[in-house]
Amino acid sequence: MRRPIIAGNWKMNNTKAQTYALLNDLVPLVKDAEAEVVICVPYTSIWAAGDAIKGTNIHLGAENVHWAEKGAFTGEISADMLKEQGVEYVIIGHSERRQYFGETDQTVNMRVKAALAHGLKPIICVGETLEEREGGKVEEVLVRQTTEAFKEIDKDELDNIVIAYEPVWAIGTGKTATAQDANDTIAIIRGTIAKLYCEKCADKIRIQYGGSMNPKNAKELMAMPQIDGGLIGGASLKAVDFSQVVKYNA
Ligand code: 13P
Repeated sequence: MRRPIIAGNWKMNNTKAQTYALLNDLVPLVKDAEAEVVICVPYTSIWAAGDAIKGTNIHLGAENVHWAEKGAFTGEISADMLKEQGVEYVIIGHSERRQYFGETDQTVNMRVKAALAHGLKPIICVGETLEEREGGKVEEVLVRQTTEAFKEIDKDELDNIVIAYEPVWAIGTGKTATAQDANDTIAIIRGTIAKLYCEKCADKIRIQYGGSMNPKNAKELMAMPQIDGGLIGGASLKAVDFSQVVKYNA
């Protein structure tokens, strides 16, 4: 059985004061959640978020990590730096990074390796654009992104990795993939893991859906057999909404 994992991706939102305010509201709302709860926050909020969720069931995540140990990489943050702040999860290869900041399948793989080497758990994002979907390239794109992201990653590490399937056309647009579509596409990703590693490995790895997931559609999406969780953008910025996604069965 794969334990559901609901993660918030705050993106470039929330100052330190807003971080405390949001989390002070969220903590009591999700304290008895069955799903694993994660919040991925901007670097500048990591310390405050860690402080606000100390001793609770909420896990701390970052939104990116650099692949180098340290050095002349102005503006970047290393895995060591995140680990020291109590970060457990890190989003890697989000489509916004691929689209606006030159992230490639290769740099995603480098970041995944660095994260794992320092005991961080990657949430690896994959997903097709609208153009790729309409061009019938969904499978090709997802197989490529998944294969490249997992290059030279040992089978023993799979327990520490989460995949997020985020169709780019569904992010922040209010358009959700239908539950059936999301399920079928995630099956392609899981099939790729089976080919790269083994059937059992594929059965064990958790794969989230992300893209306009909210309190209204979470239950239906989470009822699908392939969908093990959600990566939530907009709806993670309001404590009540995020708690309702976390408790999708309530
Ligand atoms: P939205 O939930 O705002 O569509 O964002 C999804 C996302 O990109 C999460 O990483």
